[in-house]
Amino acid sequence: MSTRKPFVGGNWKMNLNAAAATALAQSLVDRIPATDKLDLFISPPFPYLAHVGKIIADSPIQLAAQDFCRQADGAFTGEVSLAMLADCGVSVVLAGHSERRHVIGEADTLINEKLLAALEANMHVVLCVGEKLQQRQLQQTDAINCSQVGYGLAGVTAKQMERVTVAYEPVWAIGTGKTSTPQDAQEAHEAIRAFLCFGVCDEPVGRDVRIMYGGSVKPDNAADLIAQGDVDGFLVGGASLEADDFIAITEAAVTS
Ligand code: PGA
Repeated sequence: MSTRKPFVGGNWKMNLNAAAATALAQSLVDRIPATDKLDLFISPPFPYLAHVGKIIADSPIQLAAQDFCRQADGAFTGEVSLAMLADCGVSVVLAGHSERRHVIGEADTLINEKLLAALEANMHVVLCVGEKLQQRQLQQTDAINCSQVGYGLAGVTAKQMERVTVAYEPVWAIGTGKTSTPQDAQEAHEAIRAFLCFGVCDEPVGRDVRIMYGGSVKPDNAADLIAQGDVDGFLVGGASLEADDFIAITEAAVTS
């Protein structure tokens, strides 16, 4: 079990409608007790951010954005700035999610520029990394993770690292029902932590960085995953759309 405070996030992706987003947020607010044992966020789609932000404003749940633009303002049709997100109550942003890397086509350099802009804007950033199935079969998991962590965090100061979380999300496990075994997840997290401590920043700083696991996290696998020493929480997709499942995962994160 990790000594770091667990961090659990719900990534709603491009799901739900206004009524369902309202109902889900309200149900989480009603049922999740105030606690200092856990940090928690949900990331609704852009159109629902402001509304969901108001629902969770006085709750322990932080508001996160799934994406953002690195530029401050101007002629960037379709983009949303960090200041606009802050206006909606957003304090956490995701960067480098596998779907942004592999479906939308974001490269490491763009992810790094976005991450630096988000830290500059005082956001907490969750940098997502992870290998594809073929890369895993070629035993490139650690090389891919460390490369994505290294590029993603280039230029981040030790002070800013306090507002960085890494999410290890093996691409083959996202939305597939396949989960990394707890041992495999721990090995990948350990390698990321070693790289943080000896390749990215000083060891004490790297030891404090939380590394979430993501990829088909469910109530029935959360306890075994969080029992690992370097699994510090979860980034949850599908199961975060069901209040019962998401709450069960948050409970597993603190009680295991
Ligand atoms: P999943 O998604 O839990 O549905 O696998 C995780 C994620 O993409 O963050």
